[in-house]
Amino acid sequence: MKIIVTETYRELSIKAASLIAEEIKRCKNLVLGLATGSTPEGMYAELVNFYRAGNINFSGVVTFNLDEYVSLEPGHPQSYHYFMRRHLFDHVNLAPENVNIPSGCAADLESECHAYDAKIEQAGGIGLQVLGIGANGHIGFNEPDSSLKVHTHCVNLTEETVAANSRFFETPDQVPRRAVTMGVGSIMKAAKIILLASGSGKADAIRQTTKGVVTTSVPASILQVHRDVTLIVDREAAAQRCLL
Ligand code: F6R
Repeated sequence: MKIIVTETYRELSIKAASLIAEEIKRCKNLVLGLATGSTPEGMYAELVNFYRAGNINFSGVVTFNLDEYVSLEPGHPQSYHYFMRRHLFDHVNLAPENVNIPSGCAADLESECHAYDAKIEQAGGIGLQVLGIGANGHIGFNEPDSSLKVHTHCVNLTEETVAANSRFFETPDQVPRRAVTMGVGSIMKAAKIILLASGSGKADAIRQTTKGVVTTSVPASILQVHRDVTLIVDREAAAQRCLL
């Protein structure tokens, strides 16, 4: 696991966007796994800047998002479909048919999950996966539990995650209690992974993700056995990290 510690959130965002840009230059048909949440917002802003400056071309890139809330329509301002349009898709030359986000509104969510995994497989698997991390160590919405699921699935969000994400909604009651998420299988099969963490609220999760123990109670800890993971963390998030 490679750990890059930055002084600021801006630096973290530029570093992450630069790694993605390099990877797209190396492989113009990159299959790119994407995350939502506050942490990658700066990275998306930098990617849009790179695109406007003519330094990145998304025309051959295929994207797969990690997750979506169950029951939020794509037009809902707190849906991850909406987030992605607002922060990236509306501003760059990604082909709409190359953009994939699981539906949280499909009539048959189980079939939707199977179809999503099949589509990732058909695309050849994920080349570069971007991850954020929950304060409880979740990746995607793979929450701490006694076991981790391999495939895309529906999950009940923990009270901690609902509380953390309530900052995006008017009231905590509006936060969906369920989500569709890629399982750890598609994430771990990605050729490369970048995990971003910013702020002291993530310091303990980063410590547990880097301390040499893999446990389902900290889902991100499984990344320690992946062969190509880069953690990009700012100083606050890195404060308690273990040096592997
Ligand atoms: C969202 C996702 C989540 C977030 C995590 C951190 O697509 O995969 O795992 O990355 O909840 O969210 P923020 O960045 O808002 O702290």
